[in-house]
Amino acid sequence: MVRLSWTSFLVVVGVAIGVANGIPSKPFDGSYDFGYERNAYGPHPLVVFKSATQLEVPKLDVLQSSKSCESSLYTLLTPRGGATHEPQATILDSNGDLIWTSGWNGQQLYNLMVQEYKGEKYLTFWAGDDAVGGHGAEVRAAYGLDADLHDFRITPSGTALITVYHVIHKDLSEVGKNHIGPVWDCVIQEIDLETGLAVFQWQASDHWNLVDSYREIGDDGEGDRAYDYFHMNSIDKDARGNYLTSSRYMHSLTYINGTTGEVIWILGGKRNMFRDLSNGTATNFAYQHDARWSGKDTITLFDNGVDDVHRDIATTRGLKLRVDENTMTVSVVAEYFNPHKIHGISQGSFQSLPNGNVLLGYGNSAAFTEFSSNGEVLCDTHFGPESRFGTAEVQSYRVYKYEWHGMPKTSPASAIRRNSRRSWSFYVSWNGATEVSKWILQGSEDLNGTDGGWKELNRTDRLGFETGFEILETYPRYLRAAAVHDRGYMLGVSEPIDVEETEEQFEPTSVLNYMDRENLPTQLALIAGSAIVVGIILRMGAVAWNNRPTVYWRLPTVPK
Ligand SMILES: *[C@@H]1O[C@H](CO)[C@@H](O)[C@H](O)[C@H]1NC(C)=O
Ligand SMILES: *[C@@H]1O[C@H](CO)[C@@H](O)[C@H](O)[C@H]1NC(C)=O
Ligand SMILES: *[C@@H]1O[C@H](CO)[C@@H](O)[C@H](O)[C@H]1NC(C)=O
Ligand SMILES: *[C@@H]1O[C@H](CO)[C@@H](O)[C@H](O)[C@H]1NC(C)=O
Repeated sequence: MVRLSWTSFLVVVGVAIGVANGIPSKPFDGSYDFGYERNAYGPHPLVVFKSATQLEVPKLDVLQSSKSCESSLYTLLTPRGGATHEPQATILDSNGDLIWTSGWNGQQLYNLMVQEYKGEKYLTFWAGDDAVGGHGAEVRAAYGLDADLHDFRITPSGTALITVYHVIHKDLSEVGKNHIGPVWDCVIQEIDLETGLAVFQWQASDHWNLVDSYREIGDDGEGDRAYDYFHMNSIDKDARGNYLTSSRYMHSLTYINGTTGEVIWILGGKRNMFRDLSNGTATNFAYQHDARWSGKDTITLFDNGVDDVHRDIATTRGLKLRVDENTMTVSVVAEYFNPHKIHGISQGSFQSLPNGNVLLGYGNSAAFTEFSSNGEVLCDTHFGPESRFGTAEVQSYRVYKYEWHGMPKTSPASAIRRNSRRSWSFYVSWNGATEVSKWILQGSEDLNGTDGGWKELNRTDRLGFETGFEILETYPRYLRAAAVHDRGYMLGVSEPIDVEETEEQFEPTSVLNYMDRENLPTQLALIAGSAIVVGIILRMGAVAWNNRPTVYWRLPTVPK
C-alpha cells in the first residue's frame, strides 16, 4: 500500500480541485473581474497613461478571447454616456490596447467606421446633438433637411445613404387620439457627396400607417412631443439598386424598389409577407438594428428583442436569415447569443467580418462579442461594468472592426515618471499612430550641437499604447524618443525633456478614476489597502473630488 505524506496529499487534492475547475485546461485566457463588473472601480473604469494623462480610455474586462478572433483588424467604438466626461471616437487593437482616441468639440459621437470614397479610406462618424428624442442632426441633408445619427453609408458610386428624421402632422385617430398631432417621419436619402443633391428619397409615412407600429403612443402626439412611430435605424443598398431599411418600432425590414420607391416586400412585424420556416424564430425579431444584406439571399441584423419599456420580453441576439423571394419564405441560418444573456435595450450592431466571424456591439450595454459563423462565442469584452448595463452610463451606438493606418500630424507625447524611490522612467506614446514598430530613447547633453547631438541610449519594440524606458544615472540631460517604422525609418520624435528641469508628479498604482458614491466604502477600502502596500500618499484622479491631493517630487539631478 502506498502511504501518502500530508504534503503529497495536499498536492493531489490541489491538482484535483484545479482539474475540476478546469484551470489547467482552460480553453481561453480571459477572466471575469468581479470587482470591475460589480462597479468597484466606478461606472466608467479608465486606463491611465503617464505620457498622455488627458485621454479618456475605457479599461476593458476581457471575459473570453481566442486565437480564432479576427486579429488583423482594429475595433472601432464611440463610448459616450452619463459616466463619461466627453464622448470619444476610439480605436483599439486586437489586444484591447489603445490606438487612437479623440473627442469632437464635446459633441455626441456615433457610428465610427472606415469607409472608402474615390479610392481613399476615411474614418467616418456622426457628431452632433442627440438630445432631440433619440435622433440627431448635424450633417446637412438635401432639401433643407438634417441628417440623422442612425446611419451613414458611402456607396461604391460615391453617394451616401443617410437617415433623416423630420416632424409631420398626422390625424392620430387610428391610434386612439381624436386630433391631428406631430409625428416623426423617417426618410431615406441617397445624396451625391459632390453636389449634395439627393438622387433618391423615400419617406416612411407614404407607405406605413401609425397602426402598424408596436410603439405605444402614450403622451406623444400632443403639444410638441412628436410620436416616434417608425424609428428607422439602418439603410442598405444592394447590387440590384434596391434599398433595405430597418424600422425599430415596426419590428420589420422594408425592401424598397430603388427606381420607383415602391415597397417590394416586408419582413417581420404586423405586415410580414414571409412564411417562417423556423417555427417563428425567423420573423419574431423586435426593436432590431443594423439590417444588411450579406450575399444575395442572406440578411443579418442585431435583434434587440427588447426596448427601454419592454426590458425583459426576450434575450438579445444576432440573427442571420436566409430569404427566398420566389417562395416568399425565410429561415434562420444562425443565431448569436451573448453568454451573459444581455438585454440590449437600445442601439447595437451586427458586422460580418472578412474571416466569416460575426461581431456584435451591444449598444446601450458596454459590451462587444465576436462569434464564429455558426454562433460559438470566441471573444467577449466589456468596456463598462455589467452591473451598469442598460443604464446608458457607458454605451456605444455600434462597434465595428476595420483595417486602418494612421499617421498623426502631432508629435509623440512623453513624460518622466518616478516608479519608486530609486527608479525613474521615461514614457512615450503617440495617439493615432499605427505604423510604429520600435521606440528609440535618445539623449543629448547640448541641444545646440550639430543635429542636437542625439545619441541612442536604448531601444525596444512597441508593445502597447505607451512604452516605458528605465532612466539610468549615466544618461545625459535631454531625453526624447524616436518612433521607428518596421522598415527602419524614423516616423517622428517627441519634444526633448530636460531631466534637470523635470518637476515630477508621483504616480500612484491606483486605477480609480471616477468616484462612485454608492460604492465609496469598497473604494475607500481599496485605497486604504493600496496605501498600506505602497506606503505613500496616493494621488486620486477623482473628478468628484475637487480637492484631490497632488504631491510633487523633484527629480534629483543626475550625478555626473
Ligand atoms: C422596380 O421597378 C421597376 C420599374 O417599374 C421595375 O422594372 C422593376 O422590376 C422593379 N423591381 C422589383 C424588384 O420589383
Ligand atoms: C415552436 O414554437 C413553439 C412556441 O412558439 C414551441 O412551443 C414549440 O415547441 C416549437 N416547436 C419546435 C419544433 O421547436
Ligand atoms: C543654446 O543656445 C541658446 C542661444 O542660442 C542659449 O540661450 C542656450 O542656453 C543654449 N543651450 C544650451 C543647452 O547650451
Ligand atoms: C534598456 O537597457 C537596459 C540595459 O542597459 C535594459 O536592462 C533595459 O531593459 C532596456 N530597456 C528598457 C525599456 O529600459
